[in-house]
Amino acid sequence: MKMMKLGNGEAIPAIGMGTFGSDRFTPAQVAAAVEGGIRAGYRLIDCASVYGNEKEIGEVISKLIAEGVVERKDLFIMSKVWNDMHREVKVACQKSIEDLQCGYLDMYFIHWPFPNYHAPGCDVEARSADSQPFSESEFCDTYHQIEELCQEGLVKNIGVSNMTIPKFEGVLNKLMIKPAAHEMELHPCFQQEELFQYTKAHGMLPIAYMPMGSPRRPERDIDPNDIADLELPEIKEIAKNHGIHPASVALKWAVGRGQLPIPFSTTPRNYISNLACIEEDPLTEEEMQVIATLEKENRLVKGQVFLWDGAKDWHDLWDEDGEIVR
Ligand SMILES: NC(=O)c1ccc[n+]([C@@H]2O[C@H](COP(=O)([O-])OP(=O)(O)OC[C@H]3O[C@@H](n4cnc5c(N)ncnc54)[C@H](OP(=O)(O)O)[C@@H]3O)[C@@H](O)[C@H]2O)c1
Repeated sequence: MKMMKLGNGEAIPAIGMGTFGSDRFTPAQVAAAVEGGIRAGYRLIDCASVYGNEKEIGEVISKLIAEGVVERKDLFIMSKVWNDMHREVKVACQKSIEDLQCGYLDMYFIHWPFPNYHAPGCDVEARSADSQPFSESEFCDTYHQIEELCQEGLVKNIGVSNMTIPKFEGVLNKLMIKPAAHEMELHPCFQQEELFQYTKAHGMLPIAYMPMGSPRRPERDIDPNDIADLELPEIKEIAKNHGIHPASVALKWAVGRGQLPIPFSTTPRNYISNLACIEEDPLTEEEMQVIATLEKENRLVKGQVFLWDGAKDWHDLWDEDGEIVR
């Protein structure tokens, strides 16, 4: 299997399987995909407690280990602390480990850099009265709790997600263990070049969520002006030239650029082809150049549900003027 390197030099599979059912797929459906995925050769699984399916995924992992299909040491299992557990990270982590029946986590992420809660399946207008702007001290406190979990052997690597450069600047020098990866939205129409380069320059592997532009994302993340990555004529043309599906183009581009994609699929044909496509027939330099021009700044996860009282709109979550918005 093709491998990449984490910021700390540790090897990690170059592609993983996403497990967010986008409020459309049941835990059993997602777990069945994970089972098929591991049987087909996936070794990296991107989980999160808020996806509501870790228990079912854990049953599958346990069964496959018992059957001898895979050994625990060959799996790279990731999970994330949800926003309402930032003050009780150990409890949340132990619950994920218990549900996933995996003994320890290869990577544990802070899912969002603030504790603003939203319930699974909520509407785009939903807001929590307790929501707060980003706080460096709150973030560092959450992070330090994960550092302790590393010392206890429950967590091997720490990841962050949905960060911005100003937020990184506010916290990176206060952390004892460097984050090994940054899970961020990355697809051809949303390449986040500056943040991508910053992530790499600071020793973190960029992990690409929604690598195909998440055609079936939750209703709350669908805006009529969004652009469908896989429908772009340039992507379709490259796909035609290689005789492949546009989804494979997006994944080959991701791996070629140096970001680790974690596509989600419940369709065996699709998840098998997603795994295989990164091993063969890479895009040419010219094709990589063409895709580099497709940036449309089309953020799909805008995050409205995390806004706090007094925030203007979702742009405030992403510190677009280079300063943390509070
Ligand atoms: N850290 C975060 O805040 C965060 C946020 C969002 C997502 N994530 C993670 O990122 C993962 C991936 O994101 P995502 O699921 O939203 O989007 P995605 O992987 O870009 O897109 C998934 C969709 O693409 C389709 N698809 C997959 N492979 C295909 C293929 N070969 N041909 C045609 N269609 C294909 C799937 O349909 P079929 O089922 O029919 O194949 C599914 O509807 C999530 O599952 C989650 O683990 C993390």
